[in-house]
Amino acid sequence: MVRFPDGFIWGAATSAYQIEGSPVADGKGPSIWDTFTRIPGTIEDGSSGDVACDHYRRWESDIDLMADIGLEAYRFSVSWPRVLPDGIGAVNHPGLDFYDRLVDGLLDRGIEPFLTLYHWDLPQVLQDRGGWPNRETAFAFAEYAAIVAERLGDRVTHWITHNEPWVVAKRGYLYGDKAPGHHDANEAVLASHHVLLGHGLAIQAIGGASPQARIGITLNLTPVVAASTDQKDIEAARRFDGDVNRWYLDPLHSRGYPDDVLADLEKGGVAIDRAYLESSDDHDIMAGSMDFLGVNYYERTIVRDASSDVAPSVVIPPDAEITDMGWEVYPSGLTKLLVQLNDEYRPRSILVTENGCSYGDGPDEDGDVHDRRRISFLKDHIGAVREAIDDGVPVDGFFVWSLMDNFEWARGYQQRFGMTWVDFDTQERVLKDSAHWYGRVVTANGLG
Ligand code: FCB
Repeated sequence: MVRFPDGFIWGAATSAYQIEGSPVADGKGPSIWDTFTRIPGTIEDGSSGDVACDHYRRWESDIDLMADIGLEAYRFSVSWPRVLPDGIGAVNHPGLDFYDRLVDGLLDRGIEPFLTLYHWDLPQVLQDRGGWPNRETAFAFAEYAAIVAERLGDRVTHWITHNEPWVVAKRGYLYGDKAPGHHDANEAVLASHHVLLGHGLAIQAIGGASPQARIGITLNLTPVVAASTDQKDIEAARRFDGDVNRWYLDPLHSRGYPDDVLADLEKGGVAIDRAYLESSDDHDIMAGSMDFLGVNYYERTIVRDASSDVAPSVVIPPDAEITDMGWEVYPSGLTKLLVQLNDEYRPRSILVTENGCSYGDGPDEDGDVHDRRRISFLKDHIGAVREAIDDGVPVDGFFVWSLMDNFEWARGYQQRFGMTWVDFDTQERVLKDSAHWYGRVVTANGLG
């Protein structure tokens, strides 16, 4: 029996665009994902989040589902353009009411809400004015944060400003496989800066509206390993770690941007404005005091040097077990990551805000979903968290990605991360074996 400390939080996560659907209901404005999914070729199966899990209309029965599983906590995101169709200014009350009802519904069933303010669905109007590369977006974000916190801050205690700033900046503005689909290295750097600035401003805004709020940010982090002892691979691993991990962790912990990454950018020909990026006023804001660090962990990263500085190649060992996403299953990487984070940055508290896997197992002839591989994945990763706790890392919660199968961004509906099977034609939900298993983990506060 592997028991967790008393008070450890067990939850599941989703995000607005991936589950809600109803893209124009009740005055919602378009987001960059509404726009992006309409560009031919952006989404593998040509789909969009127009319907997704129809959660905007089925939220009540979805909360019942969470209660059936036995979740203690639910991490969801608020759609900014539902609340502020113009990005700033006039509040769309029906949009905000939706989250008000959701929060009440969760609390009625004894489920603690963990609210993410930004899970990638920027109001399109703000993108039209330049998006995250525009400094104004950071201030608009803080205004939005204040509005949501004023309305929900009496009942929501846990706030996550951003989900995965690296993805927002790099995938959105450089690699272009996520909205808004740009390919501009300079935009990506500015976007990362303004996302972090927005985070710091939002800490102030949320704290002002709700003094009891506990506020953090969620980063996608990965332990990086060089593919060989060759100096070039070691160097490529350093660059990768700098780009994905340290570029965000360092400024959040009052260290400013890492010098080596600034130099990498300059070497790579990105015309960065050092004085702007290193402004101590901005860095004081970014390093605002956080109550917890959210960590999304999916896999480790083995890096081999490639000729281009921008994208070193990522190696999957030939004998590795992989999920349907092609991601390596590597639970001990989570222990390593958590221990490294604690040693290096000493966060007050860490929440694993996402961990999970995509496997396509569907209902058998009896209608049951035997997703054995998901159970084993989660069991091993939860065990890895326990090992980190034994090593003194203050991990206080774990959220499975995801509550239910949903719209997996550029992969569309082809990738199923849920503990709940969703039939996207009928919207029928079936709890998979993993959901029943996870419910027992929650009850036992650990692994049996
Ligand atoms: C994370 C995202 C989440 C989901 C999982 C699989 O990067 O935060 O929305 O797509 O990956």
